[in-house]
This record gives sequence, structure tokens and C-alpha cells, in this order.
Amino acid sequence: MKVVAGGAPTQHAIILRCAERETPDEAYDLLVSSEQVVISSTSVSGAFYATQTLRQLLPTAIEAREPVTGVDWVVSGVRISDAPEYAYRGMHLDVSRHFFPVSFVKQFIDWMALHKLNFFHWHLTDDQGWRIEIKKYPRLTSVGAWRSGTVMGHTLGRDAQVDGVRHGGCYTQDEIRDVVRYAQDRCITIIPEIDMPGHSSALLASYPEYGCRDGEYEVATHFGIFQDVLCPSESTFTMLKDILTEVASLFPGPYIHIGGDEALTTQWEHNATCKEVMAEQGLADVQELQQYFVARLDRIVRSIDRRTIAWDDILEGSRQSKMTVVAWRGEQRAIDAAREGHDVIVSPSAYYFDFFQSDAVDEPLAIHGLNWLKDIYEYDFMPEALEARHRKNILGAQAALWTEYMATEAAAEYMLLPRMCAFAEQVWSRSSERSWKNFVQRLRGHYRRLDSMGVRASRSVYNVRTITSLLPDNSLQVVLRSDGDNHSIRYTLDGSAPSLDSPLYEGPLVLSESVTLRTSAEDRTDGALYGDSRLRFVKHKALGCPVTFAHKPEGSWEGDPAKVIVDGISMIDGFFLHKDWAGFHGEDLDTTIDFGVTTRIGEVSVGFAAERHRRLYPPTAMHVYVSLDKHEWRRVAALDGIEVDTRQRELSVTFERTSVRFVRVVCENNARVYSHESRSMEAVSLYIDEIVVL
Ligand code: ACM
Repeated sequence: MKVVAGGAPTQHAIILRCAERETPDEAYDLLVSSEQVVISSTSVSGAFYATQTLRQLLPTAIEAREPVTGVDWVVSGVRISDAPEYAYRGMHLDVSRHFFPVSFVKQFIDWMALHKLNFFHWHLTDDQGWRIEIKKYPRLTSVGAWRSGTVMGHTLGRDAQVDGVRHGGCYTQDEIRDVVRYAQDRCITIIPEIDMPGHSSALLASYPEYGCRDGEYEVATHFGIFQDVLCPSESTFTMLKDILTEVASLFPGPYIHIGGDEALTTQWEHNATCKEVMAEQGLADVQELQQYFVARLDRIVRSIDRRTIAWDDILEGSRQSKMTVVAWRGEQRAIDAAREGHDVIVSPSAYYFDFFQSDAVDEPLAIHGLNWLKDIYEYDFMPEALEARHRKNILGAQAALWTEYMATEAAAEYMLLPRMCAFAEQVWSRSSERSWKNFVQRLRGHYRRLDSMGVRASRSVYNVRTITSLLPDNSLQVVLRSDGDNHSIRYTLDGSAPSLDSPLYEGPLVLSESVTLRTSAEDRTDGALYGDSRLRFVKHKALGCPVTFAHKPEGSWEGDPAKVIVDGISMIDGFFLHKDWAGFHGEDLDTTIDFGVTTRIGEVSVGFAAERHRRLYPPTAMHVYVSLDKHEWRRVAALDGIEVDTRQRELSVTFERTSVRFVRVVCENNARVYSHESRSMEAVSLYIDEIVVL
């Protein structure tokens, strides 16, 4: 199209003009008539967002990456007056855990722009790789940008396999400037994050003299929270000032993010320099040293004319400065920070896009947790408990893409989209204007748009969701649903994969025998099937029986651990953070089940989670005792010295059939595993799913 500056408005034109009356920043009007498209705003960003809306009104072929012919470029006649609800609409990308090239970062920025997001939080450094060229400290990228391999799967133990494939990469300063310009052209401000004083293994591998211990450091090949931290010495602050000064020279935006999350203080307790600094500064303990470290960083950032952002961990202890806080560890932190007068960006785990998107077994490996698209869409991040007068301190929200389990661009796209679309409406639209029903209908067209762009977006939104309840007769009622706009559900009970010939779900199912229920959602418009979702129900004698624990479990995330271990639902096909587990960290499972009446039993099986996440291990021994009166106990089975095999999911013992009232099941949790994070042997967690008694 021909572009003309100034001049009288003509027909058959897209006209961008400065609005006559003052409009709020980022607001715009868009008028599509039969003759013209008129965009008016008093801000560049407003005009930019109007063009994004116009893009979305055009046929999806507008997004094709090659010229297309034969399309009528028709736009509906509309008059739109639009403005964002929040000034901070952020998206985070971790390029340390896996490196993504400039071409991908630009795509990421394009997706943000299409969805009217305006702050890009670029997580540039972490234990697993330093990604930004710093001229004064070249080893940060020549050494710190490369690791010798990447842990495979979820296990963190000494026996965890590292793939041995060198991984890394970094952005030169020219590339950074190029990305900054690219983002500016799309009304996006980049916030660079240099994560300190924890998550610093890559820096320490490059310059060990800034650490708190002797010996070699390496760019981490595992994921987690490491003991190695920066030492709060003057030479460290000099180096950090050098680094942050170069960072500020590259990023013209107002903010620098200094991290501050998950910094462990153990090494500080034993380090001579730390003790000197504490004595000199009159600091009582390592928590105060932490505050001192963060305050020094804040001073450096302000001295180079930038504002400090940090994770909410910096709220611990006393504080003077009013840094902007990214509240990621629960709503209360956002409330506290806002009440204290900090500017707050809410980045709750509800917006962590590294979590699973559904509980279907065909989801790719993810960190843990589950964030269904509908739940993201409906999660209102503004804390209800926050008083109106403090609400202005909530600048907006941010979604996070941590990339531990995203080794490829395709994997990252799949986790990001369409969840970013749902998040974008949270920060842009008023809550009274948001409707899931409406969103999921519009999502169909939006999927075609993403397809046209070549984006590999997830369709897990349609996967089947399962709600169960154990009925008084110990059968299991199962309610199935899909969040889709036009989806039915097909299911099988014979273990086979559901197809369009499988029974159609028409109402709650009642399972009264052991069975595996497999479900998929069917799109009624084209017969496409979504998700391989499974529910394994085991009918057994302890179903619904009262259960007591000698050691209190950590919880089951959803529901009562005493109930979930005798609810008949086996999560062996599932993953740990979903529901249905009783967890014990470094403690044994020691549980007593009361059948209420004398019952004949001869077999006990325990299902557990292993390997699916950090340090989940099988039991090391299993003992079963029976009693008629809870006083005299008889041991009927024992498995001792069990070899730890993290692929195992179940232990089973049989014994001579006997009449009992109580059964006590003890699963010993004595495995110790080498932690790359603490550099020592550590206790592991036992996650018990079901105790099956037959
Ligand atoms: C974080 O998720 N460690 C900020």
C-alpha cells in the first residue's frame, strides 16, 4: 500500500491520525466505514494497538508469511473505543535454561505485540547459562554461556542422567540493541534481568573469585536452587556495577531487574569475608546481609539512572527502598507489598506457562503443576482482599515462560500459546467484559490466525477434565467435561483409545469395578479428537475407610491426604502436583486403616510417584501389620532392602488370607540422594497415591 504523510483524508484509505481530544495513554478509536478505516489516538502506542485490532479484524490470511492471492480483504464495519485496564502487561522469557536465538526472541515479541502486551521481562542469566555479552567480563559468555550437558527428565539425583550435549549461546551487544529497537517499534519495553545473588552459577563458573567457596564452579547441568551464591565483597559490587552499567547502556527502558529470588544463605554463614562485612555494617545475621546485598544493588541501579525491579523474595526482613516487586509466591505477597507502598507486578503461579496444560498422558514433559487455559482466563490477579486505596500500586501482571523443559522453539510455542492469549485479556480487558464462553468461541478464529502465522499452538484447552467422587457404596462417580465451545466426549472402559465409534458421554458415569476409563474430547464441527486422558479406578477393600498417619503428610494439593490414598484412583498415569497424593519429605509413610468390621485380606499394594519431579523416590522398605483390636499386631509381610528403581510405580505383597479389623502399612523412606544444588546427600520425598487392599 502507498503511504502518504499529511494531506486531506481520502476515500479507500487507512488513516492514522492524532486524536483531537486527549485520550488516555495507549487508548485508541477505530472506525471502519464503507469508505475508510480511521485510527485515532493521542499516543503512538494507541495507534499501534489500533493496528493490531485491525490485523485481527482482517481475514486470517493476513498473517500468512508468504504473499497470498484470491482473498477479499474485507473488514467488518465497526466503531471501537478501546483502552487497557492495566499499564503493565508483561511477558517473561527464560533464555538461560534453554537458549533461544534472536529470531525466536523477535517472534516472541511479535506475539506479544499482537496481544497488546507491553513489557518484556528478559531473564538473561541463571545457573544454567549467562546470555548477554559484557565487554568488560568476556568470560561471562565465553565460559558462562555454555554448559556441558542437560539433565534428562525430572530426577535430580547423582544417578540422574545428563545428556552430555554441550548447550548454550549468547546475544552480542549488537544483537541486544537490534532486539531493543525491534521491541520499541512494537511499543514494548524490555526489562533485562540479571539474577543475583543466587542463581549465579554461570557467573561463578566464569569468575570464581566472586563466590563464597574455594574450588571449581560449573555452569549448572541440572535445574534447581543451588547453594552457590555471590559473595557480598566490595570487589563483587564493583563488578556488578560494571555489568549493570553496560546493561543500562543497552536497554533504554526505565527498569533493571536484579532477581533476588531463591538466594540461599548457608555459604554466607561460614565465609570469612561475609563475617567481616556483617561486622563492618553492623548486620545481625545473614538475612540482614541479604537485605544489605539487595540494597547495594538497588543503589547501583539508581546511580545509573534506572529503577530496580526484584522478585518478592526481597521483601523478607527490613527494607527502606521502594523497589518494584514482582509478586510470584502467592497473593499475600502482592497484598503486603502493595500495602507497604511498593509498585507491584503480579506474576502468580496461575500464570506460569511451564506448568502442564492438561492432565492427558500425551502432554509433553513439564515442570509440574497444571494450569488449564480456562483457569488462566478466569484467574483475576487483583487480590480481592486489597483495599481500594492500595490497588493503584498493582501496576499489572506478568506471565512467565520458564524453559527448563522446553528445549526447542516448538516446545516453547506450544507452552506459550494460546495461554498468552488468555492472559492478555486479563491485563487488557475489564473483568466485567470477560467471558470464557465468548473467549473460547473467538479462540477458534484465533487458532486459524496462529496457524496462518505458522505457530504451533496447543489445543489442550479441549482435553477432557475429570471430577470424581467416591459414593457411599464405594463406587466412583465420574463427571467429565471439556472447556471447549462445541465439544462432546468419547470414552472407553476396555483400555482402548477412544475413537468416534466409542460411546458418547451423556452424564455422570459410575464405576463399580476396577477399570481404566479413557476419554477424548470430540470437536462436533469436524470430528477431531483431543487428548488421551486416563483414569484408573481400583476397586478394593480399603475404599473410603478411615485412615490415620503416624507422621503428618505434607498435603495432597487438592483434598485430604487421608482420603485420597483410599479413593480408588490410581495416579500412576498422572503426575505429582495434580491431585491425589500424600507426600512425606524425609519421613516414612506409617498409616493405619480401619475397616470398621472384620475383613479378610491377603494382598496390599502401594502406588507411589517416582521420578516425575525433584527427588521423588520409591520406598526403601515396606512392612504390613494386621490387628483385630489395634493393640496386638502381627507382621504379615515385609519387603526389605528394596533397590531404588525410579521407574517403578508400585510395590505389592501377598500373604496368607487372614481376618483383620486394622491394617498398618509402613513404607520406609530412607533413600538419600546426592543434591547438585546443596552439594550433599539429602532426604527424598515419598508421594503415596493409593493403598490397595485386596
Ligand atoms: C521464580 O520463579 N524463581 C521467580
